[in-house]
Amino acid sequence: MGEILSATDWEDQVFAAGAGKTLEEAGLLEIEEHSTKLVSLGQEGKRAAEEGLLESKMWDLIKKQDEGNRSLSGVMSSGFERSEAGAGIGILKGLGVKIDSGKLVYTDEEGITKQIEKRTDFIESLSNGPIDVSGLEEDMLAHFSSRKGLIVFEESVSRTWKLTKNGADIDETTLSVVAMIGELTPEMLQTDSWKNAEFKPFDVSAPTPVPSGGRRHPMQALIERIRSVFLEMGFSEIEGDFVQSAGWNMDALYIPQSHPARTMQDTFYLDDPGTLDVDEHYLDLWSKVHEHGHDTGSRGWGGSFDKEESQKALLRTHTTVNTVRHIAENPDVPSRVFGIGRVFRQETIDRTHMPEFHQIEGIIHEPDSSLPMLISTLKTFYAKMGYPDVRVRPAYFPYTEPSAEVDILWKGEWLELGGSGIFRPEVTEPLGTDWPVCAWGMGLERLAMLILDLDDIRQLYQPDLERLRKMPLL
Ligand code: PHE
Repeated sequence: MGEILSATDWEDQVFAAGAGKTLEEAGLLEIEEHSTKLVSLGQEGKRAAEEGLLESKMWDLIKKQDEGNRSLSGVMSSGFERSEAGAGIGILKGLGVKIDSGKLVYTDEEGITKQIEKRTDFIESLSNGPIDVSGLEEDMLAHFSSRKGLIVFEESVSRTWKLTKNGADIDETTLSVVAMIGELTPEMLQTDSWKNAEFKPFDVSAPTPVPSGGRRHPMQALIERIRSVFLEMGFSEIEGDFVQSAGWNMDALYIPQSHPARTMQDTFYLDDPGTLDVDEHYLDLWSKVHEHGHDTGSRGWGGSFDKEESQKALLRTHTTVNTVRHIAENPDVPSRVFGIGRVFRQETIDRTHMPEFHQIEGIIHEPDSSLPMLISTLKTFYAKMGYPDVRVRPAYFPYTEPSAEVDILWKGEWLELGGSGIFRPEVTEPLGTDWPVCAWGMGLERLAMLILDLDDIRQLYQPDLERLRKMPLL
């Protein structure tokens, strides 16, 4: 027994722990477990123990400089790398050093020095090997655990074995060494040795690693769910290219050529290709419709339509370009189609905006398409997605009349998810159809944020596996 207990080899330790557990289960041993948390220096910590902490080196340097000349650039020109200097200044700021128009200033020199000494002592105290955390100052532990690579924690478990009364009383001659089998091997099966073997009982409460198998990205899962809902409702899926002409992305939708959304600030225009060919037939029709309304009964926007503007290449700003092109290609075929695709707008990235996002788009193009049909379709869609409370409000888009904004009820609040309406004759006539078209487009990321309960759109795309794993399954 003594040999086993002094085992230092990992496998022997596991073996000893297993044997002890068996004896405990047989009531012969009592095991007391005592775990301690140890802390030691990490890679950076070892370096700091030798060379000094970054803040300590930097502080010495700053104090040596003349009072008027203590600047960030001064620190950098004294041998710190840019990233190191930045990090060091960050740490010193936390200690009370301020930057005032490029100069480093501070008032409590003594306080800062003391704090840095305390940190240095802490690191030095660890330089002789691991120490039990219970004897260390909590604020130092907290501080250094927030810094990369300085300290590492490890857990050590020690077990004390004591014979129970049964264990002490047992007649040793009745004991024998039995190899208990934890895992059956092909050899055991072949040699029949399993027949006389004793098997270790399973301990279903033993700790195990949590398996983290692959899973679909939540956005992909959501797209697939939306797809299946529309397919279930009898819609077919369409796709289109990211690169489109301004003509199809905007003119076809009767968006005036002077519309602010068409400027470079809002739309990504391309250099290569800078232009795209657009069928002259459509250029003619759009220019007539935009200038004076053509046969649509509209008076148009007036002014003169610029066909060159129509041929500018851009990254599509909405997926409505797909549905419009679908009608142009199938003007006589009744259709219910949807698409889920990426769109691009010049947006500054923040909590709710990204320059690339997705839209869910759809149309019903049939002789009897109507506003009630549009509303009931959207209500059905959202109900199937799990949001039975939908409301529509009047809205404005240059290409629909009437137009409606679609809101859903979420935790007692109405949230706007998208736009919809019936395409205006200025849109449908050049496409070659007389039928009304129910159309809608909504943001996918908005919906994803609701479903996944996120408050920052960027969280959907950061490759943070930990967070992604925890996101609910759809
Ligand atoms: N294209 C609009 C948008 O990008 C949405 C919309 C689609 C509105 C179809 C009306 C009809 O917000």
